[in-house]
This record gives sequence, structure tokens and C-alpha cells, in this order.
Amino acid sequence: MNNREYLKTVHLSLLSLRKRTHNLREMEGKIWETSDNGDIEIISLTEKYLNESLELLQNVFFTEEFTATACGVPNDPEAKKEWGEICLAVANEGVSVVAIDRKKDKVAAVAFNKLYQKINSKNSISLYDKCLKSFKNQSAKDLIMCCKQMDNTTDLFDKCGCNCYLELMFLATSPNYKGQRLATKLTNATIELTRQLHQGNNVKKSLNGTMLHNEPRPGAVVAVFTSNISQKLAEKLGFETAACIFYKDMMRNGKSYYELIDKKQEKILIVFKKL
Ligand SMILES: CC(C)(COP(=O)(O)OP(=O)(O)OC[C@H]1O[C@@H](n2cnc3c(N)ncnc32)[C@H](O)[C@@H]1OP(=O)(O)O)[C@@H](O)C(=O)NCCC(=O)NCCS
Repeated sequence: MNNREYLKTVHLSLLSLRKRTHNLREMEGKIWETSDNGDIEIISLTEKYLNESLELLQNVFFTEEFTATACGVPNDPEAKKEWGEICLAVANEGVSVVAIDRKKDKVAAVAFNKLYQKINSKNSISLYDKCLKSFKNQSAKDLIMCCKQMDNTTDLFDKCGCNCYLELMFLATSPNYKGQRLATKLTNATIELTRQLHQGNNVKKSLNGTMLHNEPRPGAVVAVFTSNISQKLAEKLGFETAACIFYKDMMRNGKSYYELIDKKQEKILIVFKKL
């Protein structure tokens, strides 16, 4: 074998190794994006990263997010625990995405997503109603009431012109990774995942990797963005606004949410992006 042939063989072996590594990784969860240096991967959530992702939601989302803060969830472990049950139910729908730091094999950011269907929209709302009945903690119940209030603000099926949409429900980035555009990447991956489902390419997998039924197909991505950071992100990614609610107009125990949270936040935006 001459030098040229030898180099060609090495090159082909490397390509094949890279492909096999990629395939092995895909078995862990579909890869939606890899950062240029390969350090961060955006993948579909699998069982392997479930607990760490749920922990991240407890430590970041339910500790910092503004409606949760207004409802007193951050200082109430019982409230966080009860909302953890909702997060787990959402994860089981098989359409959530996470950012993984490959060097540390650590969850850096998460987007927990849920599908809503028009025919069963009463069922979706009844998830909240069911929780209202079963939850014991007042802060947890107040946050449910807040979500129900958002749901009643606008008819998103009508706005999106479809009978099924995907809601980006819980978006959070671990403190060490903030400002690195991971939330943006996760939102982009969520849009792409929804587009694939819309086009009939079934990328909906249970946490243990089995395929889930892909009907009806979602026609839009929606989100309730409660911070000026996520609202900026929505604008950049071309979301339209379906409704705007001011923190001054939302009340808990005789105080407006505006008084109960960081004063720099003005409003909540309910946004959508048709596919
Ligand atoms: C909101 C949150 C998910 C954003 O995560 P992130 O990975 O840091 O976001 P990104 O890096 O993708 O930033 C999105 C945009 O906001 C900007 N941004 C990020 N942090 C910012 C800050 N502290 N102040 C001002 N702008 C900021 C970014 O620069 C980026 O804009 P650009 O693309 O023009 O540069 C994160 O702050 C978080 O976990 N917050 C607590 C939970 C929460 O509120 N979730 C959202 C509920 S809707």
C-alpha cells in the first residue's frame, strides 16, 4: 500500500468511526444541533437525562421564572415538588429537547414541550383542573390559576389556524451556561422538531426510545414568554404576538404581580409561530 492509499484508508476509517459515534449518540436522543466546537449538543430528551433535567427545572425555572416567583413557588419546596409532577407528565409526551455539555456529560439547558389538540383541548385544560384538585400546596395552586388565566386570554387554535399545536412550556438554562444562546438554540430545535412532526416525519419518541403516535400533527409552536429575555428571543425568531398581559393587572393576595416580582418586568407575551 503506498502512502496515498494508506492515508485514504485512514480517512475512510475516521469517517466511519465518526458516523458510528453519531449513530450511537442518536440512540441516546435525536441530535438537532451541534455547536461548532462540538462541546454542546441539542438533543431530544431521553431517560438518561430526565432526572438532571427535572432538577434543573426545580433549581432554575421554579426558582427564577416570574409568574412562579409571584406565586411564591421559589421558597416553597412542596409547591416545586407538586409542579415537578406536571413536568414529568410533559416529559413523557416525547417532544422535549435539552442542551448537553458533552465534555462534562451535563444538562446545560432544557425546553420541556407539550402538544395540545383542539378536540381534546378540554383534556389539556383538565390537566390543570386535575392538578387543582389533587395539589395541596397553595402556591402551586396559585400558579395553576395563573396558567389557566393565560389559557383563557386568547384562542390559540384560532390564532394559529390549526387543531394541534406544540407549546414550549418550561424553558430554563443552568446558571453557568446563561447568555450562550442555549435558550435560542433550544427554541430553534423545538421549531424544527414541530416542523418535522407537521411534515409527517415522526420524531416523537417516548423517554425509553420507542416511537409514539404522530397524529394529529402540530401546525404551530406557541409559548407564554414571561421575561424580557425570552420575549427578545421570540422577536428574533419571528414569533407573532397573540396576547399581552401586564404584570400590573395580575393579582395575588391583594398585590399585583408587578409588586411581587423584579420591577423591570412589564408584561407577559403569548406568542405563536405558524409552520
Ligand atoms: C430565559 C432564559 C431561559 C434564557 O436563557 P439563555 O440561554 O441565557 O438565553 P440566550 O443566551 O439564548 O439569550 C437570548 C437573548 O437574550 C439575551 N440575554 C440573555 N441573557 C440576558 C440578560 N441577562 N440580560 C439581557 N439580555 C440577555 C441574549 O443576548 C440573547 O439575545 P441576542 O441573541 O440578541 O444576543 C434563562 O435566563 C432562564 O433560565 N431564566 C429563568 C427561567 C425563565 O424565566 N424561563 C423563561 C420563561 S418564559
